[in-house]
Amino acid sequence: MRRRQFVQLAATSLLGACASMLVTPVTPEGAIVRLVLRDYPDLLRPGGALKIRPVGKDQLYYVLALEDGGFAAVSPICKHQGCIVDIARDRMECPCHGSMYTRAGAVLRGPTQAPLDRFAVAVSGDGVLTINLGQLL
Ligand code: FES
Repeated sequence: MRRRQFVQLAATSLLGACASMLVTPVTPEGAIVRLVLRDYPDLLRPGGALKIRPVGKDQLYYVLALEDGGFAAVSPICKHQGCIVDIARDRMECPCHGSMYTRAGAVLRGPTQAPLDRFAVAVSGDGVLTINLGQLL
């Protein structure tokens, strides 16, 4: 590999890593988070995802566009020993001990025995995704 190719590859990888770490602050009304989907292009394609954190809170949540056109909102806290799972293209993976979850939070592979916490979502006709962080599914 030539030096220029190496530098371009390294820069691309670094930008990708930074982008994957971005967290969008949201302002909930009580336990309700509303996202106008057109403002979040990553959620307009199957396989897209958004990491959100309610303002003033420590908790992180993942909002995922599913292959069937629906959405899931999950806690990224692995149910094995509490590590933060990573979003992969078609699943989520725990970097600590290798547990795997579907993008909707169901267990694909242990050691975890339990699904990720998943919250109720609804999409209105005018394209607003409502997430109820107070209602586990
Ligand atoms: S904490 Fe996730 S697999 Fe152990």
